[in-house]
Amino acid sequence: MKAIVCTKYGPPEVLQLKEVEKPTPRKNEVCIKNFATAVTGSDVLIRGADMPIIMGLMFRLMIGFTKPRKPILGLVFAGEIESVGKDVKRFKKGDQVYGFTGFSFGTYAEYICIPEEESKRGCLAMKPSNMSYEESAAAAYGGVLAPYFLEKGNIQKGQKVLIYGASGAIGTTSVQLVKNLGAEVTGICSTKNIELVKSLGADEIIDYTKEDFASRGEQYDFILDAVPNGKIDRKKLKAQCKKALSPNGIYTSIDDGSPKLKAEYLVHLNELIEAERFKAVIDKTYPLEEIVEAHRYVDSGHKKGNVVITLEQKKET
Ligand SMILES: NC(=O)c1ccc[n+]([C@@H]2O[C@H](COP(=O)([O-])OP(=O)(O)OC[C@H]3O[C@@H](n4cnc5c(N)ncnc54)[C@H](OP(=O)(O)O)[C@@H]3O)[C@@H](O)[C@H]2O)c1
Repeated sequence: MKAIVCTKYGPPEVLQLKEVEKPTPRKNEVCIKNFATAVTGSDVLIRGADMPIIMGLMFRLMIGFTKPRKPILGLVFAGEIESVGKDVKRFKKGDQVYGFTGFSFGTYAEYICIPEEESKRGCLAMKPSNMSYEESAAAAYGGVLAPYFLEKGNIQKGQKVLIYGASGAIGTTSVQLVKNLGAEVTGICSTKNIELVKSLGADEIIDYTKEDFASRGEQYDFILDAVPNGKIDRKKLKAQCKKALSPNGIYTSIDDGSPKLKAEYLVHLNELIEAERFKAVIDKTYPLEEIVEAHRYVDSGHKKGNVVITLEQKKET
């Protein structure tokens, strides 16, 4: 099968299109014919491995010293089940699914094997019936990560929530999930993304290039800092956010903790998507062969929502 292999850590050019062996599902796994994936913030972080020394050492211990031990990167997928292991109960051949592979990576490939039950190796759910494979792959990254971070806020109807980094993959998902909870959302992004964040339902937008949100004197019940690692002075931002919290308010950053990969997050997302209360935000779409170009674009740190990769055997619903 065709796959993109990460030959070493470095710039986008370390990614190479290769012919590799097709995986075979273990008894508890499904094998998925993959039609779409996405280049996520996590993928570019792993490919580059450009981190401060202590964090970099820990990362290399976990992922691999000179190159990833699992050389096919990619975290999200949307496709059709081609075969199932003998113990698989919840899914069958032909099911249209989407999901997140976690520490298994491997979604920059035509086929993926993943356990049917959620674990550190990922989670999967039936694909929303009213979304394409591309939209489903785009929705999966924020769809698994945003609810994990938002749960920390125990957000209630009518509360005031601030999403800093509202135009990214986790940010665009969070704005919509928080609106669906009945809270009042303020989104922070740069000038070019104001219309996008407004279109997702944000009640207020703050342009961080023109205004310091902390000097507004507003107080929020929950603040999600959804700006990726290394793009901002996190310590300074955290101090500013804490100043803008109500007395019992909660702050969390997308770099706090290790997210649990829960299939129930995707099942809930399906309900919202099918009720047309959530939409996937796609900035650009590239074929698998142009993955280097897609990584260059995501490296800029200013994608809007998601960057999707389509695979050759794309099949529409
Ligand atoms: N805790 C974990 O284990 C874990 C797991 C997975 C992911 N993550 C984190 O999640 C990240 C990926 O998130 P994502 O895909 O949502 O990122 P993304 O799509 O690249 O979104 C970036 C957001 O940050 C904003 N931004 C960028 N630079 C900024 C700056 N200097 N000041 C203010 N805002 C800025 C962007 O707004 P504008 O474009 O409008 O500037 C955009 O809204 C990873 O890099 C990692 O840090 C953590």
